[in-house]
Amino acid sequence: MTATDDNDRARDSEICTHAFEEHERHQGAMAPPIYQTSLFTFPTLERFTEVMRDERSHFVYSRGLNPTVKLLEDKLAALERGEMAKAFGSGMGAISAMMMTLLNHGDHVLLVNQAYGPTRQLLEQLARFGITFSETGADCASVEGALRPETRLIYIESPSSMLMQLADLDGIAALAKRRGILTAIDNTWATPLFQKPLTHGIDLSLHTLSKYIGGHSDLVGGAVIGSRELVAKIFEHGHQLLGSVLSPHNAFLALRGLRTLPVRMRQHQANVFAVIQHLATQPTVTAIHHPCLATGEAAVWAERQLKGHAGLLSFEIQEPTYERIACFINALRIFCIGVSWGGYESLAISQRQLDGSGPALIRLAIGLEDQELLIGDLENAFRALK
Ligand SMILES: Cc1ncc(COP(=O)(O)O)c(C=O)c1O
Repeated sequence: MTATDDNDRARDSEICTHAFEEHERHQGAMAPPIYQTSLFTFPTLERFTEVMRDERSHFVYSRGLNPTVKLLEDKLAALERGEMAKAFGSGMGAISAMMMTLLNHGDHVLLVNQAYGPTRQLLEQLARFGITFSETGADCASVEGALRPETRLIYIESPSSMLMQLADLDGIAALAKRRGILTAIDNTWATPLFQKPLTHGIDLSLHTLSKYIGGHSDLVGGAVIGSRELVAKIFEHGHQLLGSVLSPHNAFLALRGLRTLPVRMRQHQANVFAVIQHLATQPTVTAIHHPCLATGEAAVWAERQLKGHAGLLSFEIQEPTYERIACFINALRIFCIGVSWGGYESLAISQRQLDGSGPALIRLAIGLEDQELLIGDLENAFRALK
């Protein structure tokens, strides 16, 4: 751990807890008030007219700016070392607003690594508006080879959320800058604590707040962070016109999640390492996918980009029929069966289909439960497989 890492950690901890809070403006309240209001009023028409000349910088209507949401946005921008953040009603709200704002008819998007399913589906829909996409691997040579004259955006997931694939952020960002192409990353897996893509030259970092940042499986939200120029444009167009708005109450829950994010991420990391160690002892496990096991150039990227490891992993078993995967997952008692991840609870799913199609992966979201409990649960499930 370097001095810079320590500084980063202390600064992040302050941002998650105290930064931007201004308690004195709210009667000294320790928890920020939830500004549950759709609109804001003005003492005179002159003041209203003045404010409307710069509506995006003032509290006018909660589809635009709201003080509770703004506190969250300021913290997210600071955590990502960006100039500005805009929060959205969901991660997909953020991703679609970003794409609808920045892409034009005739543009091509290059997807690096396996994108989250609905992100890919969104791009399929955008074909109706003359926007095309293709996919490539994560090293610079593959990305360079896949670029087209009309490529406008390189969209990365690193680590991705099924196979936990990594990408060379520095290399791709430098290549894109030389070619005048925008870069965006879904940074949800790592959280802004464990990866700061903007510091590697990526233009926009996107999150679903529904995972680790919320942390308690009780909210859906999203965010885009980057330069003031780009995020203000996404605010003006994609956010305001598509209307995927984060409610003040959900912003409050995300702020509450942020308070404990550093502590929770340390525990997710400790738990995932223990689970991986256990999986590695199981003769039926044929592969484990997690960035801490990266080899070759991916290991170099992990070392350079990741300051820690989140709790989402996937693995493969011998003879991965639907029946065997179901036998394993159904035998789990502590792990619940459900989509999403990043909450306090451990989850298991597989996309394997009854007819044997679909990925032969079992995905585990490792929560915050006691390690003994988790390992005991997995042990039982492996026993059921025999
Ligand atoms: C990696 C990733 N990105 C984006 C999303 C979309 O976020 P939301 O569900 O908040 O729209 C998800 C949701 O599961 C996800 O896993």
